[in-house]
Amino acid sequence: MTETTPYVLVLYYSRNGQTAEMATQIGRGVARVAGIEARIRTVPPVSPDTAASLPPVPDAGAPYATKADLAECAGLAMGSPTRFGNMAAPLKHFLDGTGDLWLNGKLAGKPAGAFTSTGSLHGGQETTLLTMMMPLLHHGMVLCGLPYSESALNETATGGTPYGPSHWAGTGEQQALSDHEKTLCQAFGERLARLALKLAN
Ligand SMILES: Cc1cc2nc3c(=O)[nH]c(=O)nc-3n(C[C@H](O)[C@H](O)[C@H](O)COP(=O)(O)O)c2cc1C
Repeated sequence: MTETTPYVLVLYYSRNGQTAEMATQIGRGVARVAGIEARIRTVPPVSPDTAASLPPVPDAGAPYATKADLAECAGLAMGSPTRFGNMAAPLKHFLDGTGDLWLNGKLAGKPAGAFTSTGSLHGGQETTLLTMMMPLLHHGMVLCGLPYSESALNETATGGTPYGPSHWAGTGEQQALSDHEKTLCQAFGERLARLALKLAN
Protein backbone atom coordinates (compact mmCIF):
# COMPACT_ATOMS: atom_id res chain seq x y z
CA MET A 1 0.00 0.00 0.00
CA THR A 2 1.27 3.49 -0.82
CA GLU A 3 0.42 7.06 0.12
CA THR A 4 -1.97 7.12 -2.84
CA THR A 5 -3.84 3.92 -1.96
CA PRO A 6 -7.52 4.81 -1.47
CA TYR A 7 -8.84 4.27 2.04
CA VAL A 8 -12.03 3.94 4.01
CA LEU A 9 -11.82 6.26 6.99
CA VAL A 10 -13.12 4.46 10.08
CA LEU A 11 -13.79 7.46 12.27
CA TYR A 12 -15.10 6.93 15.78
CA TYR A 13 -15.37 8.17 19.33
CA SER A 14 -15.26 5.69 22.20
CA ARG A 15 -14.93 6.26 25.92
CA ASN A 16 -14.93 2.67 27.17
CA GLY A 17 -13.61 0.78 24.17
CA GLN A 18 -16.75 -0.87 22.79
CA THR A 19 -17.12 1.36 19.72
CA ALA A 20 -13.34 1.15 19.27
CA GLU A 21 -13.57 -2.66 19.03
CA MET A 22 -16.29 -2.29 16.39
CA ALA A 23 -13.95 0.01 14.43
CA THR A 24 -11.26 -2.70 14.51
CA GLN A 25 -13.71 -5.28 13.16
CA ILE A 26 -14.88 -2.92 10.41
CA GLY A 27 -11.22 -2.36 9.51
CA ARG A 28 -10.84 -6.14 9.14
CA GLY A 29 -13.73 -6.17 6.68
CA VAL A 30 -12.15 -3.36 4.63
CA ALA A 31 -8.88 -5.34 4.57
CA ARG A 32 -10.60 -8.20 2.72
CA VAL A 33 -10.85 -5.99 -0.37
CA ALA A 34 -7.80 -5.59 -2.61
CA GLY A 35 -6.75 -2.10 -3.64
CA ILE A 36 -8.13 -0.19 -0.68
CA GLU A 37 -7.20 0.04 2.99
CA ALA A 38 -8.73 1.11 6.30
CA ARG A 39 -7.53 4.22 8.09
CA ILE A 40 -8.76 4.04 11.69
CA ARG A 41 -8.96 7.36 13.50
CA THR A 42 -10.61 8.67 16.65
CA VAL A 43 -11.55 12.12 17.93
CA PRO A 44 -10.58 13.68 21.26
CA PRO A 45 -13.12 14.21 24.04
CA VAL A 46 -14.61 17.68 24.32
CA SER A 47 -13.93 19.79 27.37
CA PRO A 48 -16.07 22.49 28.99
CA ASP A 49 -12.81 24.43 29.27
CA THR A 50 -12.64 25.88 25.77
CA ALA A 51 -8.95 26.70 26.13
CA ALA A 52 -8.03 23.10 26.95
CA SER A 53 -6.23 21.05 24.31
CA LEU A 54 -4.70 17.60 24.23
CA PRO A 55 -1.45 16.45 22.65
CA PRO A 56 -2.01 15.63 18.96
CA VAL A 57 -1.43 11.89 19.47
CA PRO A 58 -3.39 10.07 22.18
CA ASP A 59 -1.53 7.92 24.73
CA ALA A 60 -3.25 4.76 23.46
CA GLY A 61 -5.43 3.64 20.58
CA ALA A 62 -5.95 5.18 17.17
CA PRO A 63 -4.51 8.59 16.27
CA TYR A 64 -6.81 11.60 16.19
CA ALA A 65 -8.43 12.28 12.82
CA THR A 66 -7.48 15.38 10.89
CA LYS A 67 -9.82 17.13 8.52
CA ALA A 68 -7.54 16.01 5.68
CA ASP A 69 -8.17 12.36 6.70
CA LEU A 70 -11.85 13.00 6.12
CA ALA A 71 -11.49 15.14 3.01
CA GLU A 72 -9.36 12.61 1.15
CA CYS A 73 -11.15 9.37 2.12
CA ALA A 74 -12.80 7.17 -0.51
CA GLY A 75 -15.48 6.09 1.97
CA LEU A 76 -16.43 6.69 5.59
CA ALA A 77 -17.55 4.46 8.48
CA MET A 78 -18.53 6.68 11.39
CA GLY A 79 -18.99 5.24 14.88
CA SER A 80 -20.19 6.56 18.21
CA PRO A 81 -21.51 5.26 21.51
CA THR A 82 -25.19 6.05 21.90
CA ARG A 83 -25.70 9.06 24.14
CA PHE A 84 -29.34 9.73 24.92
CA GLY A 85 -30.34 8.05 21.67
CA ASN A 86 -27.92 10.11 19.62
CA MET A 87 -24.24 10.40 18.73
CA ALA A 88 -21.74 11.54 21.35
CA ALA A 89 -20.64 15.20 21.48
CA PRO A 90 -16.96 14.65 20.54
CA LEU A 91 -17.90 13.19 17.16
CA LYS A 92 -20.52 15.89 16.58
CA HIS A 93 -17.92 18.51 17.53
CA PHE A 94 -15.54 17.12 14.90
CA LEU A 95 -18.30 17.13 12.28
CA ASP A 96 -19.32 20.67 13.17
CA GLY A 97 -15.85 21.75 12.08
CA THR A 98 -16.31 20.42 8.54
CA GLY A 99 -18.29 23.33 7.07
CA ASP A 100 -15.56 24.05 4.53
CA LEU A 101 -15.66 20.46 3.26
CA TRP A 102 -19.43 20.80 2.92
CA LEU A 103 -19.11 24.10 1.02
CA ASN A 104 -16.61 22.56 -1.38
CA GLY A 105 -18.55 19.31 -1.82
CA LYS A 106 -15.44 17.34 -0.83
CA LEU A 107 -17.41 14.34 0.46
CA ALA A 108 -20.23 14.37 -2.09
CA GLY A 109 -20.72 11.08 -3.91
CA LYS A 110 -18.63 9.02 -1.48
CA PRO A 111 -20.19 6.08 0.40
CA ALA A 112 -20.69 6.38 4.15
CA GLY A 113 -22.43 4.64 7.01
CA ALA A 114 -22.72 4.59 10.78
CA PHE A 115 -22.10 2.17 13.66
CA THR A 116 -22.92 2.39 17.34
CA SER A 117 -22.64 0.71 20.72
CA THR A 118 -25.33 0.98 23.36
CA GLY A 119 -25.82 0.07 26.99
CA SER A 120 -29.38 -1.18 26.63
CA LEU A 121 -30.85 -3.24 23.81
CA HIS A 122 -33.70 -0.85 23.02
CA GLY A 123 -32.10 2.37 24.18
CA GLY A 124 -31.31 3.95 20.85
CA GLN A 125 -29.36 1.75 18.44
CA GLU A 126 -31.60 2.63 15.51
CA THR A 127 -32.21 6.26 16.47
CA THR A 128 -28.47 6.81 16.84
CA LEU A 129 -27.65 5.23 13.51
CA LEU A 130 -30.39 7.10 11.68
CA THR A 131 -29.58 10.48 13.20
CA MET A 132 -25.87 9.99 12.49
CA MET A 133 -26.85 9.79 8.83
CA MET A 134 -28.16 13.38 8.74
CA PRO A 135 -24.76 15.08 8.53
CA LEU A 136 -23.63 12.44 6.03
CA LEU A 137 -26.59 13.31 3.80
CA HIS A 138 -25.88 17.03 4.14
CA HIS A 139 -22.38 16.30 2.90
CA GLY A 140 -23.89 14.57 -0.14
CA MET A 141 -22.56 11.16 0.82
CA VAL A 142 -24.17 7.96 -0.47
CA LEU A 143 -25.57 5.98 2.45
CA CYS A 144 -24.50 2.40 3.06
CA GLY A 145 -26.26 0.02 5.45
CA LEU A 146 -26.41 -3.76 5.72
CA PRO A 147 -28.57 -5.96 3.47
CA TYR A 148 -30.62 -8.90 4.84
CA SER A 149 -28.64 -11.16 2.56
CA GLU A 150 -26.23 -11.05 5.51
CA SER A 151 -27.77 -13.97 7.40
CA ALA A 152 -26.47 -12.68 10.74
CA LEU A 153 -29.01 -9.84 10.49
CA ASN A 154 -31.84 -12.35 10.79
CA GLU A 155 -30.12 -14.56 13.34
CA THR A 156 -28.71 -12.04 15.80
CA ALA A 157 -30.03 -11.95 19.36
CA THR A 158 -27.60 -9.11 20.15
CA GLY A 159 -26.82 -6.09 17.95
CA GLY A 160 -26.86 -5.60 14.19
CA THR A 161 -29.34 -3.60 12.12
CA PRO A 162 -30.00 -2.88 8.44
CA TYR A 163 -29.08 0.75 9.25
CA GLY A 164 -25.55 -0.30 10.15
CA PRO A 165 -23.64 -2.42 12.67
CA SER A 166 -24.49 -2.08 16.34
CA HIS A 167 -23.29 -3.62 19.57
CA TRP A 168 -25.27 -4.23 22.72
CA ALA A 169 -22.67 -3.75 25.44
CA GLY A 170 -25.00 -4.09 28.46
CA THR A 171 -25.37 -1.84 31.42
CA GLY A 172 -23.34 -3.77 33.99
CA GLU A 173 -20.13 -5.47 33.00
CA GLN A 174 -19.55 -4.62 29.35
CA GLN A 175 -20.18 -7.58 27.03
CA ALA A 176 -17.68 -8.35 24.29
CA LEU A 177 -18.89 -8.20 20.70
CA SER A 178 -20.94 -11.29 19.83
CA ASP A 179 -20.02 -13.40 16.79
CA HIS A 180 -23.00 -11.97 14.90
CA GLU A 181 -21.98 -8.41 15.75
CA LYS A 182 -18.41 -9.08 14.58
CA THR A 183 -19.64 -10.70 11.36
CA LEU A 184 -21.84 -7.69 10.62
CA CYS A 185 -19.07 -5.19 11.39
CA GLN A 186 -16.77 -7.01 8.98
CA ALA A 187 -19.47 -7.29 6.30
CA PHE A 188 -20.10 -3.57 6.64
CA GLY A 189 -16.40 -2.73 6.22
CA GLU A 190 -16.15 -4.96 3.17
CA ARG A 191 -19.30 -3.51 1.63
CA LEU A 192 -18.11 0.07 2.16
CA ALA A 193 -14.71 -0.75 0.66
CA ARG A 194 -16.28 -2.33 -2.45
CA LEU A 195 -18.66 0.61 -2.87
CA ALA A 196 -15.83 3.10 -2.41
CA LEU A 197 -13.82 1.51 -5.20
CA LYS A 198 -16.85 1.37 -7.51
CA LEU A 199 -17.90 4.96 -6.88
CA ALA A 200 -14.32 6.23 -7.24
CA ASN A 201 -14.33 4.81 -10.76
C1 LIG B 1 -24.10 10.23 29.04
C2 LIG B 1 -24.41 8.87 28.52
C3 LIG B 1 -25.58 8.63 27.84
C4 LIG B 1 -25.90 7.36 27.38
N1 LIG B 1 -27.06 7.17 26.72
C5 LIG B 1 -27.42 5.92 26.35
C6 LIG B 1 -28.66 5.71 25.68
O1 LIG B 1 -29.43 6.61 25.37
N2 LIG B 1 -28.99 4.42 25.38
C7 LIG B 1 -28.18 3.36 25.69
O2 LIG B 1 -28.55 2.22 25.41
N3 LIG B 1 -26.96 3.55 26.25
C8 LIG B 1 -26.57 4.82 26.59
N4 LIG B 1 -25.36 5.01 27.18
C9 LIG B 1 -24.41 3.88 27.31
C10 LIG B 1 -23.36 3.83 26.18
O3 LIG B 1 -23.96 4.02 24.92
C11 LIG B 1 -22.68 2.45 26.18
O4 LIG B 1 -22.07 2.21 27.43
C12 LIG B 1 -21.68 2.28 25.06
O5 LIG B 1 -21.45 0.89 24.88
C13 LIG B 1 -20.33 2.96 25.35
O6 LIG B 1 -19.49 2.82 24.23
P1 LIG B 1 -17.90 2.99 24.35
O7 LIG B 1 -17.38 1.81 25.12
O8 LIG B 1 -17.42 2.98 22.95
O9 LIG B 1 -17.63 4.30 25.04
C14 LIG B 1 -25.01 6.29 27.61
C15 LIG B 1 -23.79 6.53 28.27
C16 LIG B 1 -23.49 7.80 28.73
C17 LIG B 1 -22.18 8.04 29.45
